[in-house]
Amino acid sequence: MRWWLGLGLFVLLYLSLGYALETKVIRSKMGEKVGLPCCHEIPSFESLQNYRIYWQKGTTEVVLAYAKGKKISNNERYDNRTEMDTRNFTLWISPVEILDNGSYRCVVQELKPLQNSYVVCVKHVTFFVAADFSKPNVTAEEFANSCESTEMMVTCSSHGGFPKPKVSGALNSKPVVWNASHVSESSLSLYNVTAQLWLSMTEDISFTCSIEYNGFIQSTTLLLRKTNDCVVPAVPPPHNVIIASSIIIIMFLLALILAARYLPRHVGSHCCKPQDSVEEDVKECTKPPTSSKMTSETSSV
Ligand SMILES: *[C@@H]1O[C@H](CO)[C@@H](O)[C@H](O)[C@H]1NC(C)=O
Ligand SMILES: *[C@@H]1O[C@H](CO)[C@@H](O)[C@H](O)[C@H]1NC(C)=O
Ligand SMILES: *[C@@H]1O[C@H](CO)[C@@H](O)[C@H](O)[C@H]1NC(C)=O
Ligand SMILES: *[C@@H]1O[C@H](CO)[C@@H](O)[C@H](O)[C@H]1NC(C)=O
Ligand SMILES: *[C@@H]1O[C@H](CO)[C@@H](O)[C@H](O)[C@H]1NC(C)=O
Ligand SMILES: *[C@@H]1O[C@H](CO)[C@@H](O)[C@H](O)[C@H]1NC(C)=O
Repeated sequence: MRWWLGLGLFVLLYLSLGYALETKVIRSKMGEKVGLPCCHEIPSFESLQNYRIYWQKGTTEVVLAYAKGKKISNNERYDNRTEMDTRNFTLWISPVEILDNGSYRCVVQELKPLQNSYVVCVKHVTFFVAADFSKPNVTAEEFANSCESTEMMVTCSSHGGFPKPKVSGALNSKPVVWNASHVSESSLSLYNVTAQLWLSMTEDISFTCSIEYNGFIQSTTLLLRKTNDCVVPAVPPPHNVIIASSIIIIMFLLALILAARYLPRHVGSHCCKPQDSVEEDVKECTKPPTSSKMTSETSSV
């Protein structure tokens, strides 16, 4: 119902006024000079005296207004930054501010002597303001490395832009999902953004971080190198390695000593058993080959 009513009004307005209602879209950046176009140009034989022009933002705020050739508006936010072209009513804004973002409307009325003034045309302009983000700063911090892979934390940051951006990352052109990302809270001033990714690399990778805002884009690409750790490093081993290896060496030596002390007796008792005739000395049993030879000789005799 409401929709039909709206549509009806729209069609009525469109037909009765007989001019195009299409909205003009203008994009600009903070600090620049921009011209928002209106919808009428004064014919050379006419003068600004015969017109009333309103430039308004949103539904209530008057940016600039002229009547009978004189400026009739007063708006602190705009007065020193705006002027109107007196032939085609283009609204010039310089320098553009973040708060200038919004919907504008230019209404042109013609003042006929002894008649009611009538609306010549209405122009709608959507004005998108952007502010450039700094070129993304991409840093990579390696926190673990092995022969197979390198663990990295990649950080991308950018600041001072508008509007709220979309931050995307790509590894060898394939999009990635950030492990963490943060955009500073602010709707009317500049944004800062940081995003992080934990990465396990098995080979060199090209990493791209892109910041998109209002149709503009800033990006940085960094080649992440996998550090080759497969070669034994020349650096001296750390303390605990030295301690561990000393312990192993000491234990090994201890084992050797123990073996030298106890193993021979065991072997001796074994090899001396057959020769029960003589009470052999332990020393002789340390040479089992000789003793076995002796045994075979004795048996053959
Ligand atoms: C209005 O006039 C100015 C300069 O006279 C020109 O730069 C601008 O493009 C014109 N705008 C339109 C909508 O005709
Ligand atoms: C605009 O400019 C005039 C003169 O240059 C100055 O007196 C006035 O304070 C300014 N207004 C604003 C809002 O900056
Ligand atoms: C800028 O203005 C346009 C038109 O009113 C609006 O759609 C858009 O949301 C505004 N952007 C910001 C960041 O406020
Ligand atoms: C990039 O970020 C690093 C780490 O936060 C910082 O040391 C460096 O100064 C930054 N570089 C630029 C150009 O901002
Ligand atoms: C980071 O994200 C990737 C995939 O999005 C996931 O596999 C990985 O476990 C995450 N790492 C951390 C430390 O959250
Ligand atoms: C964004 O970063 C700048 C410095 O890079 C800082 O001065 C500013 O306060 C930050 N803004 C927000 C909203 O965090």
